Amino acid sequence: MVPLIGDGVADTKKVLFEITEEHLDTGLRGFPVGTCRTSSVDPIEGVHYVGYPVADLALLDPEAVVYLLFNKELPNAEQLVAFKADLAGRAKVDRSVIDMLKVLPKEGHPMEWLIAGLTFLGMTGKTGDFREDGLNMIARSGELIANIFRIRSGWGDPIPSKPELGLVENMVHMMGAPAVDAERLTKLLRIYYVLHADHGGGNLSTFVGKSVASGLADQYSSLAASMAGLYGPLHGRANQECLEFIQKVGTTDPDKVEAFVRAEVATGGKIYGFGHAVLRAEDPRAKVQYALGEELCPNDPWFRTSVVLRERAVKVLMENPKIQNPYPNVDAVSGALTNACGLTDPEYYTVLFGFSRISGIAAQIVDERLVARGGKGVPIYRCKYIARDQPKRRLNA
Ligand code: MLT
Repeated sequence: MVPLIGDGVADTKKVLFEITEEHLDTGLRGFPVGTCRTSSVDPIEGVHYVGYPVADLALLDPEAVVYLLFNKELPNAEQLVAFKADLAGRAKVDRSVIDMLKVLPKEGHPMEWLIAGLTFLGMTGKTGDFREDGLNMIARSGELIANIFRIRSGWGDPIPSKPELGLVENMVHMMGAPAVDAERLTKLLRIYYVLHADHGGGNLSTFVGKSVASGLADQYSSLAASMAGLYGPLHGRANQECLEFIQKVGTTDPDKVEAFVRAEVATGGKIYGFGHAVLRAEDPRAKVQYALGEELCPNDPWFRTSVVLRERAVKVLMENPKIQNPYPNVDAVSGALTNACGLTDPEYYTVLFGFSRISGIAAQIVDERLVARGGKGVPIYRCKYIARDQPKRRLNA
């Protein structure tokens, strides 16, 4: 068996992967299919954005990280001011987008609203230029998402945008969530934005977005497709399921938590927030969030439960030699923090993940469309499937 490789930068001179029968129907797990200039995922050290470990970037302005993903360099102070002003200038959402949200069925999941909303944004303001549309979409998605919260939850009329506040600050302002300490939520969501922005080239939502863009669909449609990928419970929607799981554990007593995990494992249940397709150590994004929780909500019962799970779930999962990664991932604690900061409906959590991940995927699409292969771009995705269970037949034979 050829060892699986991570999401690292490919050395194109080497034979990277030998494909044998056993690799088929494995969801392309570990197959090198392209190169990525925005981020890389080391199985032990976790994600790096353009070479920087994500934990080093956690306290930067989200806009500085967007700049990094697009320009492959961190901005200096002057460039950051100019970039924030540029994004603020792009944050114009056509009123018809918000009107269309008002008629969406409330029983639709917030991610279904996001998928629809990105399509509406595309129908009302695209330029057809991947870079321009990528930056416009990043600048406009805050207003879209704030209104998904507001309109679907029945919190009242839209709140006028103040783009000069900043990407995340303006989103929290426009969301106007009742009973929320906006300062605490903003602090959380700024860090959350940085941590969730990108995760190599091969995660499902990113791969889907780049595939769709390879057919020369525009950024908005590509990202709507990406968000459909992120919607699945095995991908982004795991952050919703994680809080529900923590609440099901329902205790901070370490022995009871351990007994709960053992019972779940024994009955084939999933331990949400643990393990990862690529990582083989604790996700640095989880580490940052555990530390943040000690600062923002040290006494919150769900946060405390997640801290106990960090120790006891790992202990139980490590007993099974078949489990390659028993450690917490990015979702293990994010829901507990979001809940403690006042956004208590877990159905919305994947939308917050999407708000951030749009930036990494859009930047990767720009690289694939406008930079790769000396500017020619990656050709339309067209992989090969081996025919199976299809004996040759004829009608009327
Ligand atoms: C993540 O952020 O962990 C992902 O998008 C999942 C992955 O890398 O496959």
